Amino acid sequence: MRLRFWRSWSIGLRMAFITMLPVVFLFTAFVWYSWYAHRAQVAEELSERGRILARALAETSEYNVISGNLTDLRLTINGLVQSDKNIFRIDVVDASGKRALRVTSETAQDAEPHYYEAPIRKQVVWINLFTDNGTPHVSASSDARPPTLTTEIVGAVQVRMSPSNMLAKQARRFRIELAMAALALAASGVLAWVLARSLTLPLKEAIQALRAIRGGQYRVDLPVTTGGEVGELQASIGEMSVALDRSTQDLENKVAERTRDLVESRNEALRADADKRKLIQKVNSIIEDERKSIAVEIHDELNASLIAVRLEAQSIGTLASKAPPAPETEEIRAKAGAITKLALDLYANGRRLVRRLRPEVLDMLGLHGAVEEMLRHYDSAGCRFSFHSEGDFSKLGNELAISAYRIVQEALSNIMKHASATAADVTLVLDAANDTLRIEVEDNGQGFDPASSSEGIGIIGMRERVYALHGTMEVRSAPERGTTLAIALPLSDASAVS
Ligand SMILES: Nc1ncnc2c1ncn2[C@@H]1O[C@H](COP(=O)(O)OP(=O)(O)OP(=O)(O)O)[C@@H](O)[C@H]1O
Ligand SMILES: [Mg+2]
Repeated sequence: MRLRFWRSWSIGLRMAFITMLPVVFLFTAFVWYSWYAHRAQVAEELSERGRILARALAETSEYNVISGNLTDLRLTINGLVQSDKNIFRIDVVDASGKRALRVTSETAQDAEPHYYEAPIRKQVVWINLFTDNGTPHVSASSDARPPTLTTEIVGAVQVRMSPSNMLAKQARRFRIELAMAALALAASGVLAWVLARSLTLPLKEAIQALRAIRGGQYRVDLPVTTGGEVGELQASIGEMSVALDRSTQDLENKVAERTRDLVESRNEALRADADKRKLIQKVNSIIEDERKSIAVEIHDELNASLIAVRLEAQSIGTLASKAPPAPETEEIRAKAGAITKLALDLYANGRRLVRRLRPEVLDMLGLHGAVEEMLRHYDSAGCRFSFHSEGDFSKLGNELAISAYRIVQEALSNIMKHASATAADVTLVLDAANDTLRIEVEDNGQGFDPASSSEGIGIIGMRERVYALHGTMEVRSAPERGTTLAIALPLSDASAVS
């Protein structure tokens, strides 16, 4: 059996058990003792009455038994049996044990197993009227012998009692006692229930209040309905609820205040962020404009002057070839040829510079064509470049296209400067479904550690362009593992579409 089985019981059940256990024990003991006492009383009384009756009848029936006249005795016994319902049967037997008379009650139902017997004695008094020598006593004198008394048993009276009548009376009393004890038991039960309820009800309410507090409802209404420890518990829970509610309110107020501050700071940061992006865009556009004007200057002024220089040098060479041959004229012709070549080289460099500064090719061919053209230019330098593109780039906004072009330009320039790569791959994807332009430049060169700081501003410039356009940029590289540059620019930005 499991020890301490009451551990799982509720307080109500324990209270009822503690209260009812002694009461039930007392009730059972009382009922058992009462029943036993009543039965013992009946047996005692019957035995006493039976014995007295037998003795009294034996003492008065001596004459009738000796004389054999039993009619009077029968009448007497009949009267007795009729008047006393506790007598079951009375028998009178003679000396030999033979039954002389039997009277059985008509009302008594059952008999005791044993009977009470009293002997019927015959007493004979012998008086000697003669002296020892045969002469009669004349008068009473000192030699006269005293009379002798002899007793002889001539029969017996047997009385058998019936307990049913007395038992019925005692059973009635027992029933009343039982009813009273049951009433006391029921009253104890009701009292135990009321007591247990007076304890369990406030405890249940206290538990409900604690559950509500655990569920986040800190303000609970728990009146103090009882005294003692349970009352103290109710009062403590009520006070705790008020304190919790107050501190929660304080906390919520602080959180609300802090949230307001945070929202304010966030808005400020967003404003600053937007301003910063605008500034970068503005700076980039100024740089592009400045580049354009420098390109125009180079194209219109420097290149025009170089063409003039070339023409002048050419005409000096022609004049020198027409002059009479002399070592000086030959040298002038050679110098004029060198100046012409220098001017041509400078012109070519100027044109390259103009192309770099002002990607007119972007206006003419669009981003796709401009990048292809750029790759063709770089391809000649020992590293094989391949190009993949997807999507229609014709609707791309000018600013986005220039940024993308500049980003690719810097990435290719880095490959040429630092990677020592043998192959590089450029991918442009205009993902209309996701509203994104994806740029990926990958090389198989020596790679680098992107976490280590650098003195250059190429990658910083790329990041700034991407940031200004609300895009994302990732540089994946490790020493001897090549480099991959992955950029995603949103098309939905105001500057994205033209
Ligand atoms: N494709 C690449 N392969 C190997 N190293 C690279 C590559 N791209 C960049 N790096 C490394 O990252 C550094 C930073 O590049 P970044 O473009 O910012 O500066 P830079 O090229 O050195 O100078 P700048 O671009 O200002 O002329 C480089 O110095 C180089 O060490
Ligand atoms: Mg660089």
